[in-house]
Parts: sequence; structure tokens; C-alpha cells
Amino acid sequence: MATPTTDWTTPSLFSSKNELETPVLTVDLDTMEDNLREYANFAETHDVRLRSHVKTHKNAEIARLQSQISNGGGIVCQTISEAEVMAKNGLEDIYLSYTVVSERKLHRLVWLARKLERFATTVDSIDNIEPLQTVASEHDVPIDVVLEIDVGLNRTGVSPGEPALEVARFIQEQSHVELCGILAYEAHVKGDAATRDEYEQECMAAMDVAEGTVDLLEAEGIPVEEVKVGGTATSKYSGKHPVVTEINPGMYPFMDVGELKHRPFDIRKDDCAATVVSTVISKPTEDRAVVNAGSKTLSLDKPQMPVPKNRDDINYANASEEHGWIDTSDSEEPIEVGDRLEFIVPHVCTTINLHDTIVGVRDGTVEEIWPVQARGKVR
Ligand SMILES: Cc1ncc(COP(=O)(O)O)c(C=O)c1O
Repeated sequence: MATPTTDWTTPSLFSSKNELETPVLTVDLDTMEDNLREYANFAETHDVRLRSHVKTHKNAEIARLQSQISNGGGIVCQTISEAEVMAKNGLEDIYLSYTVVSERKLHRLVWLARKLERFATTVDSIDNIEPLQTVASEHDVPIDVVLEIDVGLNRTGVSPGEPALEVARFIQEQSHVELCGILAYEAHVKGDAATRDEYEQECMAAMDVAEGTVDLLEAEGIPVEEVKVGGTATSKYSGKHPVVTEINPGMYPFMDVGELKHRPFDIRKDDCAATVVSTVISKPTEDRAVVNAGSKTLSLDKPQMPVPKNRDDINYANASEEHGWIDTSDSEEPIEVGDRLEFIVPHVCTTINLHDTIVGVRDGTVEEIWPVQARGKVR
């Protein structure tokens, strides 16, 4: 008897989507390309750079595609090891939207700054500038930094206004740390705003705060060349503010249930490119089917559950690791063991991070198999 090989479970190019072993993470390529073009067109229309956040997919080929579509807009990474994967795969313009403090990591930043055409990292206090200056001067490699200001998320970032000015002045005094702009990540709006008007007002209010700090720094003779903002939900609102020079969305190629839930006025199911295809493995009762996609396939780090892509008469009700409970009590079509059910993923970034590959499908045929190269690259 033949020895089982992992090839049995590996998706193959040009096979039919209907024949893929499940559970499998797929991306509809037409939908993804529409989303890529939509954000690129927005950026062009509003004269901002589109620098895509690749934390979402962790794949260099998609990153290159995004960079091409945005006319060389570069990419954003969230961890050094993610940036290293991108750099080793030919990406040349990387912004690290994360503050780094350990000495060994700072040496790796120097490696990135040496290797890349363009590299910048993030700082938000004297405490993370001092060690960076020490390591950068030891290697005699100047490092560009972006000063993060807190415009309402209450995560990282120095307070806007005078506290930001104080840190900016400190940067100006360093020999190997150079200020190239500010980061004003306004993701709190996604939780607060419920309507298009509220998104518009709250994003503009956050950007007014950023502008106040830019004006203050510039009045003190500190030029602020870049103002980076935005995730998928907010960047198309914030990007209209005149102070903004760059938007950094991550999830936009794929969308997910979070985006659907937060912006039903902007996003429809048809805009969601990333789905998990599952198989019904049990139908114990009339009102319950069980699929082979649970929390090890569909990340449930946020309150939202997966949403069926092509039907409105069933609900993904609960999950354990390898099982998904499907409530079929209102089902209008029979569901049987062996049926395939497709779900829009609750949170696309953490879902992709659970998979080895992203399977790109066009018109029902597998056209791309992208490895999730920076999967697990958290350091
Ligand atoms: C600083 C920063 N910029 C941009 C993004 C991308 O946002 P989104 O995933 O909503 O597109 C993130 C996501 O966590 C982020 O932390």
C-alpha cells in the first residue's frame, strides 16, 4: 500500500475549487483585484500614497502586486521578522509600524536599513529613541523614524501637541535618528462610528488633531514630510484630509466579517474575497449541521462569527477547534453530509495566519497558491 504523503492535502494549480480538500482558505482573485484597484484609485484621486500593510497576508508576491498597483507605494510590516521575509524576497521600500526596543532587534533594524532602498521604523518616546540612536551610531547607519502620535486609539503613540513636540525635538538632537514624519493611526473610529457621516466626522476630527501637531512642529522649524494614517475602514475617510500624505490599509484586498459589520453602508458580501470552504461532516439533528472548520481554521479573536458567503438561511453558531456548529433551523434548502459550505472569514489577518497557503481562485479554477511566508513571524 502506498505511504500517505502530504501531497494529498496540498492544493494543486488549475484544479477546480470544488475539488479542493477542505477546510481551505481561498481568495477570489477578481474580487481581490477590484479591491486593490479601488484603494489605488482612491489614493490617486486624493493625492496620497497607498502603502499597503502586509501583516494581513504575509506573502511577498501579493505585497509586490500591491506595490505595483499603487505605483511603487511601498509596504508596511508590523514585525521585524515579517519585514525580513519581505526584504529577502525583493521588497525594497518598507515601513515598520511598530516600536522596537531590544538590542538584538535594533541590530536587525540596522540590517534592514542597510539592505533596503528605503526603510523607516516607528518611535513614540525618548525611551525607544535612545537605544536606537546608540545602535545606529555604533554601525554608523542613520535610521529614518516616524513619530507615532495617539489620536484616540489609546494604544501606542505620544500625546499630540507639546508632548509630541518634545519628542520631535529630542529626535532632532540625535546624530543617527532622522524624523521623516508622523503616524496617526485612527482605528478607534472603527469601534465608535456607526454611519458614513460619523466615520467622516470622526476621521476628520482625528486628522485635525494630527494637523495641529504637524503645525506645531513645523512652526518650531521641524519639517514633517509624511503623515501616515489609516486601516481599511478609516483610510478612505481620513485620506481626504489635506494633512494626510499616506494611507496604510491592510485588510482591503480581502475584507472580512469585521469590515462587513462595521461598515454595512460601504461593504457588501460580494466585496469579501477571502473565504473558507468547509464540508458538512455531520447532520445530527434537523436544526444542526457540523462543518470541519472550527477555531483552528477560522480565527475567532473578535466577537463576530463567520458569515455564509452564498446563503442567508443558515448561521455559523458556535465553534470548537475542528468543528463549526451551523444552525440550520431556518434553512430553505436541504443540507446533507458531504455538502460544501463557504464562509466569509471573521477576521482575515488572524485567519490567514492559521494557514500554510492562500489559494487564489478565478472562475472556479485555482490560479495561484501563495504560501503564507511570514506566518508565525512574530519576533
Ligand atoms: C499601525 C497600523 N496601520 C495600519 C493597519 C492596517 O489596518 P487594517 O488591518 O484595518 O487594514 C494596522 C492594523 O493593525 C496597524 O496597526
